[in-house]
Amino acid sequence: MKEIKIALLGFGTVGMGVYELLKKNSELIKERVGIRPVVKKILVRDPKKKRDIKIDQKYFTTNIEEILEDPEISIVCELIGGIEPAKTYILKALQKGKEVVTANKAILAQYGNEIWEEARKRKRFIGFEASVGGGIPIIKTIKESLIGNSISSIIGIINGTTNYILTRMLENNFQFKDALKMAQAKGYAEADPTLDIKGIDSAHKISILASLAFGFYIPVSEVYTEGIEDIDLMDLKFAKDFGYIVKLLAFAKKRKRKIEIRVHPTLIPETHVLTSVRLNYNALYITGDFVGDILLYGLGAGKEPTASAVVSDIIDAIEYSYFEKKPFIKYPLTKNNDFFNIRSIEEVEFKYYFRFSAIDKPGVLSKISGILGKHNISIASVVQIGRQKKKGSVPVVMLTHETKEKNVNKALEEIDKLDVVTASTKKFRILE
Ligand code: NAP
Ligand code: HSE
Repeated sequence: MKEIKIALLGFGTVGMGVYELLKKNSELIKERVGIRPVVKKILVRDPKKKRDIKIDQKYFTTNIEEILEDPEISIVCELIGGIEPAKTYILKALQKGKEVVTANKAILAQYGNEIWEEARKRKRFIGFEASVGGGIPIIKTIKESLIGNSISSIIGIINGTTNYILTRMLENNFQFKDALKMAQAKGYAEADPTLDIKGIDSAHKISILASLAFGFYIPVSEVYTEGIEDIDLMDLKFAKDFGYIVKLLAFAKKRKRKIEIRVHPTLIPETHVLTSVRLNYNALYITGDFVGDILLYGLGAGKEPTASAVVSDIIDAIEYSYFEKKPFIKYPLTKNNDFFNIRSIEEVEFKYYFRFSAIDKPGVLSKISGILGKHNISIASVVQIGRQKKKGSVPVVMLTHETKEKNVNKALEEIDKLDVVTASTKKFRILE
């Protein structure tokens, strides 16, 4: 029987999902591909750890050399996470002539060039479908299906954990920390969940997508990033009253010779299709010059959908390894070339939602609006929510017309110094 031996580095949420999929759909894959991928070894930290699934101890090793030096193992799947030792293992596996599959966006968004260069040099396959969008085939869509297009824009919800938290907070009145705990229990969150909630995981992913779509390496350090850690339930509810849903969005846009690349919470009009993307679902809008707009939607985190993406790469790796197909797609290998540069967020125009914490007395609104006017910011609507009962302040929510981010930053700095303003103003950008 034709078999190809693979090794899993890591047997956590994703590793277990891949093992289960390969077991359950073994016949189906064999029928479709003509060869059966079989797990031979699994690298873990602690072989004695209690696992959620039954598995023979013989698979486990804590010694990477057992995998790297095994000539029978052709495909190595890195599902450990973090930078080291995962990065070293990926490089060593490529150097040993193995095809590599990884779900590790953190490594690609920081060291993608080094990894892609090593794969190119060694003429090996490196698959990373699971690094963005869980089960959504976004990498293949950009690399293969849209290869004839010049892509001008990618906008998406690309973190399952934060989308789950925002959904649970608004729809079920969950506290932030309880929603996060549930996302962790379901296996959506990173081992270090601050990567999710600070927007860094989304920044990793948009860096990878933009690099593929625009053809040169845009490391995560170029991505303007805000997370959801300071979001208050009050803002989700006020935004809804105004007809908006708050989502953590990632943007990569090419405009003339500039790239806009950013991640931040964004108010989306309730009529927009992205507002129906709930819980751990992700969605991506892509615009190409010939295809027009396309929308991809699916489960963006969790064991099964991510395993589906990893296994699609394993099958590609089989084509390269067993059937000796040669990689022909060039990955981005140059850092910001002369043609493009990154547009600073300060130069981008948005409509805004502000929530001021203001003392409830006559003249306060005119002080605030005076400063906004001075900085060319025009108000679209304003509502004071309730009356101040005792000491303290009331929330005043304001929506603006389009204005440059740098004007807003200057205005809010002045407003927050007013003696009638008791806390930092909350600011969210609005999607048009
Ligand atoms: P996880 O549940 O934390 O599992 C990590 C696994 O790696 C564990 O089995 C652990 O071993 C092993 N490991 C950690 N450090 C190791 C080391 N130094 N040497 C050997 N083994 C080590 O992580 P995960 O959620 O499966 O995520 C894995 C990767 O997939 C990450 O890059 C993540 O960003 C990515 N990803 C995750 C999802 C998701 O929904 N979870 C989706 C897409 C992509 P022990 O079991 O012995 O502790
Ligand atoms: N922590 C990630 C998320 C896993 O929540 O989207 C999927 O990449």
